[in-house]
Amino acid sequence: MSPISQLLKKYDVPVPRYTSYPTVPYWESAPNTDQWLNALRHSIEKENSTWSLYLHIPFCETLCTYCGCNTSITKDHSKGAPYIQNLLKEWSIYRERLPILTKRKLQHVHLGGGTPTFLSGQELLSLLSPLLESAGWDPQSTQGSIEIDPRRTTKEQLQVLRKLNFQRVSLGVQDFNPEVQKLINRIQPEEVTKRITEQSRELGFSSVNFDLIYGLPKQTLKIFSETIESTLRLRPDRIALYSLALVPWIKPAQRLFSDDDLPNANEKRALYELARSAFLDNGYVEIGMDHFALKDEPLAIAQKENRLHRNFMGYTEFRTDLLLGLGVSSISETPTAFHQNEKVLPLWEQKIQNNEFATHRGHLLTKEDQEQREQILRFMTKGETTLSAQEETEAKDFLGAMIGDNLLQLEHGKMRITEKGRPFLRNACAFFDRRLRRAKPSTRIFSQSI
Ligand SMILES: C[S@@+](CC[C@H](N)C(=O)[O-])C[C@H]1O[C@@H](n2cnc3c(N)ncnc32)[C@H](O)[C@@H]1O
Ligand code: SF4
Repeated sequence: MSPISQLLKKYDVPVPRYTSYPTVPYWESAPNTDQWLNALRHSIEKENSTWSLYLHIPFCETLCTYCGCNTSITKDHSKGAPYIQNLLKEWSIYRERLPILTKRKLQHVHLGGGTPTFLSGQELLSLLSPLLESAGWDPQSTQGSIEIDPRRTTKEQLQVLRKLNFQRVSLGVQDFNPEVQKLINRIQPEEVTKRITEQSRELGFSSVNFDLIYGLPKQTLKIFSETIESTLRLRPDRIALYSLALVPWIKPAQRLFSDDDLPNANEKRALYELARSAFLDNGYVEIGMDHFALKDEPLAIAQKENRLHRNFMGYTEFRTDLLLGLGVSSISETPTAFHQNEKVLPLWEQKIQNNEFATHRGHLLTKEDQEQREQILRFMTKGETTLSAQEETEAKDFLGAMIGDNLLQLEHGKMRITEKGRPFLRNACAFFDRRLRRAKPSTRIFSQSI
């Protein structure tokens, strides 16, 4: 076995993606209304505080069999209008209870899903015009971004978004190969992705992102090299290169393809390395552990200037004091609390209709949680952090194997991931995850690290 295969064998264990800390399975209890309001107020009490807004649109016309997102599959587009009304109502609940919010600077608005372009151009306008105006959208400084499914996006929708001054689009691509696409129930001819990419550019979007996934069924090095070539031809400004996260105990549709079709850990890592070297050779820089951006792109600049941040949406250049999530299943975060909305559409609707926060679950962070969250954030975004004397002693013990394998360096209170260790960044973060270490889970709750 080659040394990398041995490492993969040793370290390909279930670990969180650390888009939050504590990770969702270790959230203790939902904040009640007062606790949630206090956490929100506290997060934006300073006059120069900033916030960002996430809007979740859950609908998709068809289910991609790998999908781990919170979706509602329907071809019935009449569901869009009532959903928009409820989103606007949820926004009014927050505005009434937290009037100070609209006096703070709105830094970033992101529409995610599901598929935000399930909504027609008119519907997007009827949602975003009143909402953005009352939220303090500033065309000069607020950034607007949206996840779009090229198969379900029209020029008219893109025009509406540009008129509202959205600057960034993120296209779900995953893989260009027709056979892989068949197995994941996502037929998306290259022509479609090309058309939407070109239209986005013509309309003046300043940044186009592609989401790709490695580790999909039947993906081989040859097949993936064609996907990489197609990607490079279209030259998106950013690329998110996600490892297929398999969580079939949560998402039963992931069982629709056979395990035999899936690349093993070695093959999977080889797919990442293939893409990584092609992107690096073609003017991209690697951001954190699974993103790439052209050198002059804001995400690359943020990394260079040490401003990279990571939240539920992955790597971002915006760190705001509050991330407010609206819509079914949306997650909000403040420095002291996490909050997730009801994940089932009728339950979310009911709470909004009752004029309540649609709380499903959440977590109030202890002092220890807050410290560990900062450590994890630093490590995930900078690849290094400083340890206290006691942490250093503990780390030598807990991470001894990784240090011995030259994946990590630990010297004079500084812990740093090595180039060789990059694939195992999440494994090293587990050191700071006191809750995981205390719980020692016996059942699988996270996807594999590779
Ligand atoms: C909400 S979707 C993007 C917008 C739109 N629904 C689409 O698919 O085009 C978010 C992204 O999450 C990624 N994703 C979904 N399920 C995943 C999984 N199980 N493992 C890794 N990435 C996944 C895909 O790359 C997908 O593009
Ligand atoms: S990947 Fe996108 S389009 Fe496919 S089911 Fe998931 S959210 Fe919907």
